[in-house]
Amino acid sequence: MASSLTGLSGRLAVKSGYLHSLSRGFAATAGAPAPEKKPEKTTYGPLKDQDRIFTNLYGRHDYRIKGAMSRGDWYKTKEIILKGSEWILKEMSASGLRGRGGAGFPSGMKWGFMNKPFDGRPKYLVVNADEGEPGTCKDREIMRHDPHKLIEGCLIAGVAMGARAAYIYIRGEFYNEAVCLQEAIHEAYQAGYLGKDCCGTGYNFDVFVHRGAGAYICGEETALIESLEGKQGKPRLKPPFPADIGVFGCPTTVANVETVAVAPTICRRGGAWFASFGRERNRGTK
Ligand SMILES: Cc1cc2nc3c(=O)[nH]c(=O)nc-3n(C[C@H](O)[C@H](O)[C@H](O)COP(=O)(O)O)c2cc1C
Repeated sequence: MASSLTGLSGRLAVKSGYLHSLSRGFAATAGAPAPEKKPEKTTYGPLKDQDRIFTNLYGRHDYRIKGAMSRGDWYKTKEIILKGSEWILKEMSASGLRGRGGAGFPSGMKWGFMNKPFDGRPKYLVVNADEGEPGTCKDREIMRHDPHKLIEGCLIAGVAMGARAAYIYIRGEFYNEAVCLQEAIHEAYQAGYLGKDCCGTGYNFDVFVHRGAGAYICGEETALIESLEGKQGKPRLKPPFPADIGVFGCPTTVANVETVAVAPTICRRGGAWFASFGRERNRGTK
C-alpha cells in the first residue's frame, strides 16, 4: 500500500510539480522558508522567439513609436505599399490566415471582395475592436501594448482593399486602450506614415478611432456598422453584404484587430512563412 502511494506521488510530482509545492508547504510549517526555486526555462511549444509576431503583449516595453520601431514595426512599409494591392492580397491568401474575430473566413479572399472597379464611392476598412465576449482580452492587449502593429496593419489592409480610411470601432469600456491607440495614431501622422502621401508613396489614408457604448451585439459586423453611423446597434439583413453596401452606404470590410495587426508581419516575412505554422486549413501563429 505504502509503496503504491509512493509510486503515485512520484508520478504526480513528475506530472505537475506537486511534490515541489508539497515540500515548500513542509518547509513553511518547519519555520525555515525554502529558497525560491528559479523556474526552468519556459518554452511555448515549437514557436521560436523570432517567430513571435506580438512581442510586447505583457507591456514590458515601450508601446510608443520609438519602441514599436525597435521591435520591427513600420519597417519597409513603403516597399510593401508600392508592391500594390494584388501583391498584398496574394501574400495574405498564401498565408492561410483566417479571420480572428470568430467566423474564421479566409482573410485574403474576404479582403479581395473589395477589389472591384471604382464606382465613385470611397471604400472603408472597419476594424472590429469591440471585444465584448466575456473574459476575452486578446485584442485589448494588442491595442494597449502594441498599437502600432494595428495601425500599420490598417494602412496595409487599406491599400489591399483600396480603402480611403479605417475606422477602429473600439469597445466603450476600453478607455485606456482608446487613449493608447489615439496617441499611436497621432505619432504615425507626425512621422508621415498616415494622412496625405503615406510613407511617401502617394497613397492617402486616414485612421479614426470611434468609441462604442459597450453593447455586446455591436461586435456583430452589421450592427457595428449601424452603430458607427450613429444609429442603434441592430444587425442588418444580409444581403447586401458590407463589401457592397457597408458604412455610409459604401463598400466596407469589417476585420478583427488581430487579423489586421498580423498583416504587416505577413507581408514582411511572406505568406509562406506564416503558413508554415499551425495546421491544415488553420494556418499561422496564435
Ligand atoms: C454577436 C456577435 C458578436 C461579435 N463580436 C465580435 C467582436 O467582439 N470582435 C470581433 O472581431 N468580431 C466579433 N464578431 C464577428 C464579426 O461579426 C465579424 O465576423 C468579424 O469582426 C470579422 O473579422 P475577421 O474576418 O477578421 O474575423 C461577432 C459576431 C457576432 C454574431
